[in-house]
Amino acid sequence: MSHADEHEGNRRDFLYYATAGAGAVATGAAVWPLVNQMNPSADVKALASIRVDISDIEVGTQLTVKWRGKPVFIRRRTEDEIAAARAVDLSVLIDGNAENDNIAAGSDASDANRTLDENGEWLVMMGVCTHLGCVPLGDGAGDFGGWFCPCHGSHYDTAGRIRKGPAPRNLPVPVAAFDGDTEIVLG
Ligand code: FES
Repeated sequence: MSHADEHEGNRRDFLYYATAGAGAVATGAAVWPLVNQMNPSADVKALASIRVDISDIEVGTQLTVKWRGKPVFIRRRTEDEIAAARAVDLSVLIDGNAENDNIAAGSDASDANRTLDENGEWLVMMGVCTHLGCVPLGDGAGDFGGWFCPCHGSHYDTAGRIRKGPAPRNLPVPVAAFDGDTEIVLG
């Protein structure tokens, strides 16, 4: 495959993804993905908050939305996923940092420091592998029941923390907050 072919392939994959992702974003966000996808100025980036309706997300499932040109995973975790994540001894973690933009920098990667609610049901993370940027597979994929990046074999646990493979960091938690019981605001 020539270099040009390869490039074209990647581009097509990306556009396909963008189309699929935009469909899941709540009202009011229909226009920005196109703008954002081009070459967003700092102004556009700064303004790009989106609201996501989470009322249809069942326990044990994940919604993927596109935000600032990247996928964001919103997972409503099961009791088992929460328990598994909380049982992990922090000393075994590859990245001991919470990587959570909503709390103080340098906080530890305990499960409670990764989730959006105290019960640990809601986990919101960038769906971008911290190795070279592929989109990891979810729904219990990988050796740790969380996410798996097939590009070079990175395994993330049920809190999105890197546990095995070449990725150096946990999947980052972006600025996010609940608005009532049915919406999450990203950014
Ligand atoms: S990009 Fe995910 S393992 Fe390399």
